[in-house]
Amino acid sequence: MATNRTFTMIKPDATSANNTGAITKMIEEAGFRIVAMKKTRLSSELAGKFYEVHKERSFYGELVSYMSSGAIVPMILEKENAVEDFRKLIGATDPKKAEPGTIRALFAKSIDANAIHGSDSDVNAEIEGSFFFSQFERF
Ligand code: RTP
Ligand code: MG
Repeated sequence: MATNRTFTMIKPDATSANNTGAITKMIEEAGFRIVAMKKTRLSSELAGKFYEVHKERSFYGELVSYMSSGAIVPMILEKENAVEDFRKLIGATDPKKAEPGTIRALFAKSIDANAIHGSDSDVNAEIEGSFFFSQFERF
């Protein structure tokens, strides 16, 4: 099952712009089933932990402060080929480079405020999903 799951998080720019419903609708219409979902907010400590892999990158500080600046909606999603198909659905990190019709092309404001996160591998999808959800919160 793990190979058919990915993890996503609607970011603060998109939740504050009232785009949570529109984005969730696109995700479901693309054939993903929502296995777990909630609305929450990360402390800067937790955001730092979530993005620990980027610790050495120049944008780490901005990323952590941005991701703890407002509400987020983490979700575990299920679909065949979930990780790869979801990365296609969200588009490139920089919305200026994102394919037309992708979630980032439609909703992202900038490379930092880029509307949504998508796991980049099956292993990371499992790690990131477990960061937010217990076994008993997955349906
Ligand atoms: P994500 O993890 O959020 O799905 O995004 P991604 O895989 O497309 O990009 P990644 O390289 O994992 O970077 C994580 C987030 O850091 C911000 N970022 N800023 N200023 C920059 O050059 C830069 N590069 C990345 C983005 O918000 C990106 O989503
Ligand atoms: Mg990434």
